[in-house]
Amino acid sequence: MSSEPAPFRVGLLGHGTVGGAFAELLSERASEIERFNGRRPTISGVLTRSRGNFEEILAQSDLIVEVMGGIEPARDYVLRTIKAGKSVVSANKQLLSQYGEELFETARKQDVRLRFEAAVAGAVPVVRVLEESLSATPIDRIHGIVNGTTNFILTEMTQGSTYADALAEAQRVGYAEADPSDDVSGRDAAAKMAILARLAFGTPVHLGAERRDGGLSVSVHPTFLYSGHPLAAVSGPFNAITVESETITEITMSGPGAGGRQTASAVLGDVVSVMTGGARPPAPPLALPFVGDIESAFYLHLDVADRPGVLASVTQVLGEHGVSIKSVVQRGMGDAARLVMVTHPVLESGMLAAIEEIGEFDFIRSAPRTIRVIEKEFL
Ligand SMILES: NC(=O)c1ccc[n+]([C@@H]2O[C@H](COP(=O)([O-])OP(=O)(O)OC[C@H]3O[C@@H](n4cnc5c(N)ncnc54)[C@H](OP(=O)(O)O)[C@@H]3O)[C@@H](O)[C@H]2O)c1
Repeated sequence: MSSEPAPFRVGLLGHGTVGGAFAELLSERASEIERFNGRRPTISGVLTRSRGNFEEILAQSDLIVEVMGGIEPARDYVLRTIKAGKSVVSANKQLLSQYGEELFETARKQDVRLRFEAAVAGAVPVVRVLEESLSATPIDRIHGIVNGTTNFILTEMTQGSTYADALAEAQRVGYAEADPSDDVSGRDAAAKMAILARLAFGTPVHLGAERRDGGLSVSVHPTFLYSGHPLAAVSGPFNAITVESETITEITMSGPGAGGRQTASAVLGDVVSVMTGGARPPAPPLALPFVGDIESAFYLHLDVADRPGVLASVTQVLGEHGVSIKSVVQRGMGDAARLVMVTHPVLESGMLAAIEEIGEFDFIRSAPRTIRVIEKEFL
């Protein structure tokens, strides 16, 4: 008599947008997963604020999926699961970006899996690509649009919306939360870039990547892109990540960065990866120094009084700080005059010092505005 293989029991912490969609997707895909894996995944218990008991769920599970969000009690539950010798799949970027090292080290010691594909860019499989496909590739730089809410807002604004209207629309269609501060302040993107930097460069980054002369620079900021850049066409709530390396030139991955079903599909992919013995937690961290002052091209916008000598004064100050101008356009006349420039790459410190000095001229009518520019083309 042949005995059926035991089901693969999944304990689910959180049954909200992602957890609910995950439970649905798992039941839809269970037979197919069983067909190629031999074991059928089943939900062994669900924890929310109003139902379930963590200890009981842990005892009945082979793996825990953490889609509760927040730091505590998620951190405590994840650590207890790992210490019990069981693997974890989490979608929690805040937890991974703040406590990743503690969780990775515990998982390495226990020799269990800790998968977190959904914590960065939702359904876009960037974590797995960095951990597995590109694990032998020395990565120079990662650029990403990792917050769908702000990309949606910027897309709406390029079509004429004001910031307030674009944010209201993002909230109406469900891309932005009622309290959008994590998204629009850059905190959400910073957590995701910290996780990517840890994977790509091996160095823990707490919050704010680029390898520069042996050091690392990580930041979140608005950027102008030339129209041929792979990220320039990514509009609406979509996410995209570009990985650059001399070895591979450039690889871009894009897709839905959020949404219950989309995120759940990344979580379920991680569950299947654990079932098939998938990748170990990241190796112990490397100590790479951080570089604060990085080189970039800049866009500079100056509202000026239109009188003789203005352009000469501005270019002289820029020159004194090592900023060379690639293009300059003057628009408007009289009190409505504007100088718009794009610089060649320059150290940020030089640009900031020049702007401070330029801001003191009496012909400057409002604070100078700058935005970084990424111009590099991949040939
Ligand atoms: N939503 C997305 O598109 C998306 C995309 C990528 C990653 N993520 C990540 O996925 C995670 C879940 O997000 P979500 O949008 O699904 O959140 P959500 O809709 O707010 O659901 C959270 C779930 O966790 C439960 N929960 C929260 N705190 C708990 C506690 N202390 N004890 C027990 N249960 C608790 C909630 O219980 P109740 O039902 O009782 O409130 C709810 O079922 C977060 O880490 C988020 O960053 C989400």
